[in-house]
Amino acid sequence: AQRATGCPFSEKAQAFDPFGAEYQFDPAEALRWSREQEPVFYASSLGYWVVSRYDDIKAIFRDNIAFSPAIALEKITPVSQEAIDALNGYGYAMNRTLVNEDEPQHTERRRALMSHFEPARLEGHEEMVRRLTREALDRIVDRGEADLVDEMLWEIPLTVALHFLGVPEDDMAKLREFSVAHTVNTWGRPTKEEQVGVAHAVGKFWQYSGQVLEKMRANPDMPGWMPYAIRKQKELPEVVTDSYLHSMMMAIIVAAHETTAHASANMFRRLLENRELWDEVCAAPSLIPNTVEECLRHSGSVVAWRRIATKPVTVGGVDLPEGAKILMVTASANHDPRQFENPDELDIFRDNTTDHLTFGYGSHQCMGKNLARLEMRIFLEEFTRRLPHMELVEQEFTFVPNTSFRGPEHLLVRWDPAKNPERTDP
Ligand code: HEM
Repeated sequence: AQRATGCPFSEKAQAFDPFGAEYQFDPAEALRWSREQEPVFYASSLGYWVVSRYDDIKAIFRDNIAFSPAIALEKITPVSQEAIDALNGYGYAMNRTLVNEDEPQHTERRRALMSHFEPARLEGHEEMVRRLTREALDRIVDRGEADLVDEMLWEIPLTVALHFLGVPEDDMAKLREFSVAHTVNTWGRPTKEEQVGVAHAVGKFWQYSGQVLEKMRANPDMPGWMPYAIRKQKELPEVVTDSYLHSMMMAIIVAAHETTAHASANMFRRLLENRELWDEVCAAPSLIPNTVEECLRHSGSVVAWRRIATKPVTVGGVDLPEGAKILMVTASANHDPRQFENPDELDIFRDNTTDHLTFGYGSHQCMGKNLARLEMRIFLEEFTRRLPHMELVEQEFTFVPNTSFRGPEHLLVRWDPAKNPERTDP
């Protein structure tokens, strides 16, 4: 409590930089000192309270009234007037979706829109994911090398996301560019010079989302989650609002594909770095579901999430004032030894790995988690069968600097096509 009264924090706390190389490279490692010594601290570079331990973060997730998600999609870096003007030029009005909505609206909306995420519905996507994965493998299998991110791990989750949402698949390259801009705009630290470029890309993304929505309104009987929301609006206009539809159209394209693309790249990277585990999975595909989960725990694609205190609160024994902005570093929680034994070890047999917080927790927990799991499972099933001899090329990984979304920009792998199993056992 003493610390919250303005007493100085440790040097490490003052030096904490979530846009620096250490955090970008390994956010859990970058906060090891905090988990051990100062689990709740104020990061003045950010204007946020950082929370790093599992129990403290779970307690925040559990109480979405005292800890409102309203700032979850706010720009974490205040931008220049020029960038604001640029965004306004596009009529940009990103507002509440689900992830940043308060009660009671949030639960009403979530309930109204939940049916598309039920297991039986998701099964319908399995065939498509498998076909896309097989086609991508067909394209590379005889080549002996590939950048898995560029050649499939972006494209497949994006295609699946658009299909799930009911959005036409004809502007995929543009959407990839837009998504990165949205990530930088929301969770990044663009320089003054970069801010205007980012603002134009985000503005165009906003307009694009509006146009897609208009087309859907003209033909609301199309399949997909967004046309379904348009139909629901007729029934529940106060719950499914126009502002929701436009904001969600833009946010969900990113939420549904970038997260899954990054998580899949992190998964292949970690398994290939732990060769004996990769070989075990190749030999016993029944290990795949828990392996997917353990990769989500060890190296998840969402590493930090935000809340704002709606009243004075206590977190981990530290008093925070009303209005305190909080950055929960879920990647750090996932490496908390109080919750996970040998937390830094990738252990595909771990029995409590599903306790991880990569999908959040509580009333806002990720609605798409089972779609993401399904995609990751199929990627592993197909790759372990057709490229069990694949290995990681020595490379330096790069990441788009930001607090929350994390996955390598490229993932280079190679193998000897002469040893492809389909040659010996067609
Ligand atoms: C919410 C992570 C994939 C749709 C969230 C939240 C996180 C997250 C951290 C906030 C949870 C909270 O506040 O407690 C991830 C990760 C993914 C993934 C790591 C992939 C590995 C997806 C996919 C979809 C999706 C594929 C859609 C098809 C949503 C929605 C919400 C959400 C709609 C808002 C839920 C609410 O506020 O009630 N996700 N997500 N996500 N996610 Fe995901």
